[in-house]
Amino acid sequence: MTQEQAKKEILELTDRINYYNDLYYQESVSEISDFEFDQLLERLISLEKQYPEYNFSDSPSHRVGGTITKNFETVIHKYPMLSLGNTYSEEELLDFDKRVIKGLEGDAPEYFCELKFDGVALSLTYENGVLVQAVTRGDGTKGDNITANAKTIRTIPLKLKGDDIPQEFEVRGEAFMPSAVFKLLNEQRAANGEELLANPRNTASGTLKMQDSAVVAARKIDCYMYNLLGAEKNIKTHEASIKTIESWGFNVSPTYKLCKSISEVLDYIKEWEEKRKTLPVDTDGIVIKVNSLDHQEILGFTAKSPRWAIAYKYKTESASTILKDITYQVGRTGAITPVAELEPVLLAGTTVKRASLHNANEIARLDIRIGDTVYVEKGGEIIPKVTGVDTTFRKSDSKEHIYITHCPECGSELVREESEASHYCPNTENCPPQITGRILHFIHRKAMDIDSMGEQTIKLLYTEGLVKNIGDLYNLKYEQVVQLEGFKELSSKNLIDGIAKSKEAPFENVLFGMGIRFVGRTVAEKLVACFKNIDALMSASLEELMEVPEIGERIAQSLVSYFNNPKNRVLIEKLKDAGLNFEINEDDYQLAGDSLKDMSFVISGVFEKYGRDELKELIKSHGGKVVSSISAKLDYLVAGEKMGPAKLEKAAKLNIKIISEAEFDKMINL
Ligand code: IVH
Repeated sequence: MTQEQAKKEILELTDRINYYNDLYYQESVSEISDFEFDQLLERLISLEKQYPEYNFSDSPSHRVGGTITKNFETVIHKYPMLSLGNTYSEEELLDFDKRVIKGLEGDAPEYFCELKFDGVALSLTYENGVLVQAVTRGDGTKGDNITANAKTIRTIPLKLKGDDIPQEFEVRGEAFMPSAVFKLLNEQRAANGEELLANPRNTASGTLKMQDSAVVAARKIDCYMYNLLGAEKNIKTHEASIKTIESWGFNVSPTYKLCKSISEVLDYIKEWEEKRKTLPVDTDGIVIKVNSLDHQEILGFTAKSPRWAIAYKYKTESASTILKDITYQVGRTGAITPVAELEPVLLAGTTVKRASLHNANEIARLDIRIGDTVYVEKGGEIIPKVTGVDTTFRKSDSKEHIYITHCPECGSELVREESEASHYCPNTENCPPQITGRILHFIHRKAMDIDSMGEQTIKLLYTEGLVKNIGDLYNLKYEQVVQLEGFKELSSKNLIDGIAKSKEAPFENVLFGMGIRFVGRTVAEKLVACFKNIDALMSASLEELMEVPEIGERIAQSLVSYFNNPKNRVLIEKLKDAGLNFEINEDDYQLAGDSLKDMSFVISGVFEKYGRDELKELIKSHGGKVVSSISAKLDYLVAGEKMGPAKLEKAAKLNIKIISEAEFDKMINL
């Protein structure tokens, strides 16, 4: 292939991929299969590798990441990134309006209202319609160049649409992690025994500073833009600039409104107070901007913020109470979580007694001390958090809290890896909550599904010396159980039967149940599909493991070290002897048929005949694929009872076939 031919093919591929991408992301339509699309992309990536001079900065290949940034370059902002003044009441807002009118010598301003998105401010520079740089806010004067990571955000255009695009300009906005993505990420982390992430904002911020842009791509960050700078076009109002950037292809939240007066602004504030909670992104207030750019220029700036804009912050439900103690919890992976033990206080309808303090850094940041008066809030997260300390009530003899150095359960000295925020108890073998935590994970519904057993029973079996690891469960005898406190004949029989039945669980459930760090349910399924049996998996090298799609070095490393531990090998032998499934049952899959071959399904709601996992298994065993979200590429939505209206609406809009449980049965000839 000549240079010219390569360039020609790269440009053709770029156009085709951009065309399919636009169609998919803007109109939810796909004209080619995922497979064909991936092939086009792979071809482009391979040509760009061979001919790096044609790896253009707006190439769609940058969306999937792969660039590693070791150190983010510091960039000085051409226009400083200022902050906004805050108001918390109607009164303060009316004062702002008065100041504006005075500044405009009596002229009545129009206000443009937007929601205040709780994310990370980004500044994007475009030259000749192509994204050339993305920089974080940093300290407002200089930020980090995170261009490779920003390119993985699907809603940031790499190349703009339209023919009236200025030669160079900046667009600013907020990158954020959608609440649903955050929730899912934390659910996966909980299932993997990983430390939970505190909130979507910090997660978005941490994600954009990751070195590997492929990991950023997988995190599904989104972005809303709200400011155009240096465009030097004939634009007279903020509203016109927003409409202009929208027309160029930027993602603008449709929640904005032009208000003729401050009283309309107050209506907007009321309108969004509750409604904002239904948005895909966390918001903590609204931003009010004087609409006319001439007016903005007259009003100008203070040292820190514009005089033509202000933020109105909604009140978060918070309460103050006394911190009675700080206790420490030990998770199944040995991770230590400090917990604030509070004087009970009523907050948003529930009594709060405990709040998470996350880790040692958070305790140091808050400088929280026992006896302090503290503020607790309920954010988007389920567990309330301590947001601050009121030091005016602090006694003069109060002492800085010293973080524990030894495990509160087993006394081992704690360790803390450089890259981790949490301390860990290294005594995996003998630390009681780690042992019982691992057993609890093993009997989980998505693992061995032993529902005749709960946390209390596990603790009892452990303290009675009957079960010390998951392998011991299969040696348990009815005669031993029936002697335990609280157990009668029937409950003992149920327990033993439940354990025996769990031996039928498929290999992926067993692998997930083993509780290997970072091996969640989805990862377990991928490994099983690839290696088919435990011996092949155990003998795989780090490199072989990393060849499995979506298995990165962190997971591969964790698997290698788990299987290198002789104690784990003994445990696996014990489980094998007990008769657990350690290989894929290919017969099952072949026998079931291929009536759903190449079809994709989303399952939603509750079903009469099947459990959700059962339904998933049926789809897979008939050649179909189960996906988690509704897109135009989806073939069927299997709708059960209590399914959310939003999903139904989306599926209907995209013309997806919606089928009942009975219709599904017909498809697999049941
Ligand atoms: S305008 C001169 N609009 O709030 C300031 N900011 O406190 C221009 N933010 O750093 C900012 N949503 O990160 C603006 N609709 C919105 C916003 C918004 C969130 C953030 C932004 C900024 C901070 C200012």
